Amino acid sequence: MTAKTPASPIDMMKEIIRKRMESIQNRIAVISGKGGVGKSFISSAIALILSKRGKRVAILDADIHGPSIPKIMGIRGSMLYVNPEGELIPVVSPGKVAVVSIELLLTDPDLPVIWRGPLKTRAIYEFLSRVLWGELDYLVIDLPPGTGDEPLTIAQAIPSLSGAVIVTAPSDLSRVVVRKAAMFCRELGVKILGIVENMSEFTCPVCGTTHKLFGSGVGMEMAKELGVEFLGSVPLDPRISEAIDRGELHKIIDDENIPAVRALNEIVSRIEAQLEQSRSS
Ligand SMILES: Nc1ncnc2c1ncn2[C@@H]1O[C@H](COP(=O)(O)OP(=O)(O)O)[C@@H](O)[C@H]1O
Ligand SMILES: [Mg+2]
Repeated sequence: MTAKTPASPIDMMKEIIRKRMESIQNRIAVISGKGGVGKSFISSAIALILSKRGKRVAILDADIHGPSIPKIMGIRGSMLYVNPEGELIPVVSPGKVAVVSIELLLTDPDLPVIWRGPLKTRAIYEFLSRVLWGELDYLVIDLPPGTGDEPLTIAQAIPSLSGAVIVTAPSDLSRVVVRKAAMFCRELGVKILGIVENMSEFTCPVCGTTHKLFGSGVGMEMAKELGVEFLGSVPLDPRISEAIDRGELHKIIDDENIPAVRALNEIVSRIEAQLEQSRSS
């Protein structure tokens, strides 16, 4: 008889996280090969639209060094509630999305998080093992940008991801970055739900002319190359950045007069259809 190796603290926490997440039907990771492409905005928009459609939704801000979800969701300065059992209760945002972010544990959100290396991994696992999610239809996870060790470790802390959405900018350089993001998904063993191209074009509010500021077509071409769905392009729109700056994305997310909002609604429908399909197959 061989002696059983005792489970490591990380494995034990992983098991707790798995149990706690059993009450969540779909877990969607949003990833990008690099920062600044609008990953956090797209994650928040997906969560808000799902919530508008009557789904029970939470968003996890897993970007430890650049947490921006509390700001986008209009709850900057709020704190996670810790119940007597030491469990963390998400903050519910306007637009009815339950938000979990390390920033919501800090007394001063402007302090940078200085966790490093193995300690950081442990801290993230410990953090996640304490969250009381409750019954949810969707958890949207805003992963840290890039495809290195850190986003991989964090993604691995979340059990059985239902799928990943890759966000890219339309520039030519993005091709390599998207390929890397796809490899990252393969390494994780997670299905790619599709590619979103953000900041695809800009329509001048004065003259009405549309400009492709950063090139175009990368999202669609890469989707074809990788054999995954192209979920849609989201135009650059100052109404979006202004709403984000005010923490009021929820106020414009059902304004069908905004082309970016229409695009996002179609993207969410495609994601829902894909998940529905994988459940029934
Ligand atoms: N389609 C868009 N239209 C207008 N502004 C956008 C759009 N997408 C992103 N932004 C702006 O770009 C900035 C970076 O977006 P963010 O989602 O934080 O990127 P990431 O998470 O990839 O680093 C934000 O300040 C946001 O307001
Ligand atoms: Mg971000």
